[in-house]
Amino acid sequence: MIEDGQGKRAISGIKGTKDILPNEVAEWQSVEGRCRGIFELYGYRELRAPILEATELFERSTGQTSDVVTKEMYTFTDKAGRSITLRPEYTPSVVRSIIENRLFLQPEPMRYYYIGPMFRYDKPQKGRYRQFHQADIEVFGEKDPAIDAEIIEMAHRLLSELEVADAVTLVNSVGCQNCRPGYLEELRSQVERVREALCADCQRKAVANPLRIFDCKLETCRKLSESFPRIIDFLCAECEDHFKRFRSYLDFYKIPYRIEPRLVRGLDYYTKTAFEIISGKLGAQNAILGGGRYDDMMRQFGGPDICGIGFAMGMERLLSVVKPRIQKRNFIYLVYLGDEAKKAAMGLAGYFRKYRLECVLEFKDKGLKNQLSRANKLEASWVLIIGDEEVAKGRFQLKNMKTAEQREGNREELLKILLENQSR
Ligand code: HAM
Repeated sequence: MIEDGQGKRAISGIKGTKDILPNEVAEWQSVEGRCRGIFELYGYRELRAPILEATELFERSTGQTSDVVTKEMYTFTDKAGRSITLRPEYTPSVVRSIIENRLFLQPEPMRYYYIGPMFRYDKPQKGRYRQFHQADIEVFGEKDPAIDAEIIEMAHRLLSELEVADAVTLVNSVGCQNCRPGYLEELRSQVERVREALCADCQRKAVANPLRIFDCKLETCRKLSESFPRIIDFLCAECEDHFKRFRSYLDFYKIPYRIEPRLVRGLDYYTKTAFEIISGKLGAQNAILGGGRYDDMMRQFGGPDICGIGFAMGMERLLSVVKPRIQKRNFIYLVYLGDEAKKAAMGLAGYFRKYRLECVLEFKDKGLKNQLSRANKLEASWVLIIGDEEVAKGRFQLKNMKTAEQREGNREELLKILLENQSR
């Protein structure tokens, strides 16, 4: 609560942001753990870049014509007059970090991952937030289309471990610097014929970068774009060959996919392979993950000529389609009566915690009945009862809350029981 002219009023969280509450965090940690486990299984290492970056980083990579840069960035001027942006995506940060830290000189595999928050000032709706989280992976220096297929296979492995059913893989090629200009020329002339019928935003895109018209979500623009030429019909021999071999590796992995010729992804840096995995369970914002190849970014940033490919998965969207599998916490609630017993309980909790057993103590000086009912409410697995008599004898009562079985013992005996049950 804050006081202002009108008295006290509550402060709400920022629109489009969400608190991840303790009862949800267990599921987040479990899914994040699965992501890390799978990524590391394929040789990825974590790289943690800052949330704040120079605005120019995204302008020069994500792209001056992308919706992300033109409309969605959280940008501000810092006290030294620099333009700073809360990262809307992670890929440009990894590329910057590799160049700045000269990671390309190291023998480590150039495979990096990261899980963390991103920021986009988009219209919030189900599955679309202003602060959201991505699990992002990037590979550098692998030209072979086998890697394009391997990262999709890795995503499928993760989704299948998380029991995400009905995910559909969409693939396309967006060509390269050699074949795209010819395609854009043809696209421009086709767009020109229907320009008046496009929304104001797409009319601007028609001049700046007509490829971005395919990102428009308005039904009229979508319908019109169906008649536009398809980039896969304009690929140069190298892109064509890459796309063909990429698909043959997907077949090798037995990954079903659909070619989606209008999938151009909303970001300007892609070359050759572009893909998305969507889920029918997600509604309008149906992409669980999206990615592709970006062979020119490192060079364009003044680094070595090293190609890149990767994807980012929306964690909120992923969590909304995974089967929850929260494990109930296994913990001991210590009940005590009197000051001596309180100190004994504190000592016992310290002893059990050394063995990684979770203990909960509360300091409210309530009676036995109240403490037991509190333990029940918290769904404690065990209750340890400590009174003056127990302290004097050094023997305590341990109650299994599931079976109601009660055992007596000194702390070593009770530890043995607790550890035996812990692993079950
Ligand atoms: P993106 O398609 O912009 O790609 O985002 C990737 C994923 O992040 C989406 O498929 C979606 O699941 C999630 N996402 C995006 N915006 C939001 C939002 N406002 N709210 C909730 N979830 C969202 C990229 O960001 C590229 N950096 C991916 C990449 C990596 N390409 C190559 N390497």
